Amino acid sequence: MGSFQSFVCAECLKKEDEDSQDGNYRIKESYFIPDIVNTVPKNVTDIKVDTRNFITKSEKNVFDIYEKICELGNGAFGTVYKVKRKNSGFNPIIRALKEISKEKMQNNEESGLELKNEIEILKNIDHPNIMKIFEFFEDDNNIYLINEFCGGGDVASLHDKYGEFPEFLLKFVMSQVFLAISFLHSNKVVHGDIKRENIAFVYDGKYKTKEEFERFFSKIFKDKEIQNEINEVGGMDNLSEEAQNIVKELCNYEIKILDFGSAKMKKRDKINKKLTGIVGTAYYCSPEVVKEKYDFESDEWACGVMMYILLSNVAPFPGDNEEEIFDNILSKEINVDIPELKSISNNCKDLIKKLCDKNPKQRIKSEEALNHPFFKTGINFSNLLKGVYVENTKELKKIFRNKSSNLFGKKFTNSKFKEMVIAYIGLNFPDKVEAQKARKIFLEISGGNKHFLITKETFVSRFEKAFKNLTKEEIENLFNSLDQNETGNIEYEELIRALSDRDKLLSNKNLGEAFKFFDKDNNGFITWNEIAEIIYPEGKIPENIMKEFLEEIGQKDENVKIDFYDFKRILTK
Ligand SMILES: Nc1ncnc2c1ncn2[C@@H]1O[C@H](COP(=O)(O)OP(=O)(O)O)[C@@H](O)[C@H]1O
Ligand SMILES: [Mg+2]
Repeated sequence: MGSFQSFVCAECLKKEDEDSQDGNYRIKESYFIPDIVNTVPKNVTDIKVDTRNFITKSEKNVFDIYEKICELGNGAFGTVYKVKRKNSGFNPIIRALKEISKEKMQNNEESGLELKNEIEILKNIDHPNIMKIFEFFEDDNNIYLINEFCGGGDVASLHDKYGEFPEFLLKFVMSQVFLAISFLHSNKVVHGDIKRENIAFVYDGKYKTKEEFERFFSKIFKDKEIQNEINEVGGMDNLSEEAQNIVKELCNYEIKILDFGSAKMKKRDKINKKLTGIVGTAYYCSPEVVKEKYDFESDEWACGVMMYILLSNVAPFPGDNEEEIFDNILSKEINVDIPELKSISNNCKDLIKKLCDKNPKQRIKSEEALNHPFFKTGINFSNLLKGVYVENTKELKKIFRNKSSNLFGKKFTNSKFKEMVIAYIGLNFPDKVEAQKARKIFLEISGGNKHFLITKETFVSRFEKAFKNLTKEEIENLFNSLDQNETGNIEYEELIRALSDRDKLLSNKNLGEAFKFFDKDNNGFITWNEIAEIIYPEGKIPENIMKEFLEEIGQKDENVKIDFYDFKRILTK
């Protein structure tokens, strides 16, 4: 991770060392997500395409590449902007740029570490309900994170705009928040700052005008009859046509958790140790956080507080200052029998109580929360979000037939280089429609487990049922060709890439963007050093492997200079 430490100030590194000596919790690399980049490859097929290697610090000037459009939000250390990738033509590439001032960071002893954390954790996480990071930049004054743009706005803005938050919409939001949190916890990450401002909507549906969006949201927020219907009537077929359309339209939105500025990843040998310090916003702090010894369950507590605030417009543990708030958190039980929550269902109130159980050991876990009756009454969003593929092998078949006839028993690509470039494009510029479809298939095959992986076992049993004419060996081959980074599981992003249409991925525009990424120094050529740094950032690649790698793309030696013309030829061959 050489380049990565350069922006962490000396003070922070010193602090990190001290922490490790006195046995306190210390953040370094990811110990839980499989580390697949650290082994020296023995031959070309050994080189694993790991998309995490694409999320690097760019040496370029961020504003040569991105152009600010408007401000999205303000935080403790800087500002978040909506930006556009320059020259990305009509249908431009939009991202969120989080600008973090180094000066402000250095005035805070923990923050250097926190930022390192934010990038490191986001980089290692691949889940549809967690905002993605694509790259980051640094100049003398700031660090810039280039993140997935969540254009639907955050939950707090919507709540403030309409002055209320309907229960059925909260069900939709929380069914995805709990999925993301259970995934984080199973990867030993504590988010540490779950609140209204850090949950956002992304819209994946057909183009709509501003007025159409407004109309849709005011219906959702203001039409009590529709709200009650969706909240109470089970099954899509029993809904009125209008309510059905609203639910369908709502399912074009995806919920994302943002802001990993307070997140911590627990180290393997410290797994039983509590985390220390106060994190997050006062209202949302659990009793353990207030006592400065906390663990994963503090995220569930914050979920309970957030639900309470959204539904009632009052804080469960109020106070005029931090001290009063903390006192209340420690001494009071949560009270859901207040007039502001009169119209809220008992199931919902019961879940809030279980989330805000003072005893972290008894507190309901995200995974269990998903099975709470709150999510089983009315429209079951968890099932809906999985799509129409649930138990429908015919759909599964159709998609795999059409999209991947080239996948069955055949090699994925004819060179490692091509595999890399396709992975880069798939990560950064996926086709929206295909990605949405792939997400549903992923949820369907994986069953939406907390690890968010498709294991070989699950895959084989699912496909044996769907494809009676394929042998087990053929299915295993298909699995292996999908599991490109050879972790023994299919990760979310891997499947999206596999199911995407190659011609769409390898469009001129995407190839141009990919070329710019691989040509790190911007001199118009991709050189061996530039490739090697991405394949194996930790060290030197043995000569025989380099030769094999280059032979595959018709190049002779390490003095290769691939210009854009060659690049296109190699990739479209
Ligand atoms: N990727 C994004 N897409 C859209 N809006 C965002 C995005 N990231 C942040 N924002 C907006 O900016 C605000 C602050 O960003 P955040 O990452 O939470 O910073 P901080 O750590 O300073 O709180 C958020 O509450 C949200 O409104
Ligand atoms: Mg925030």
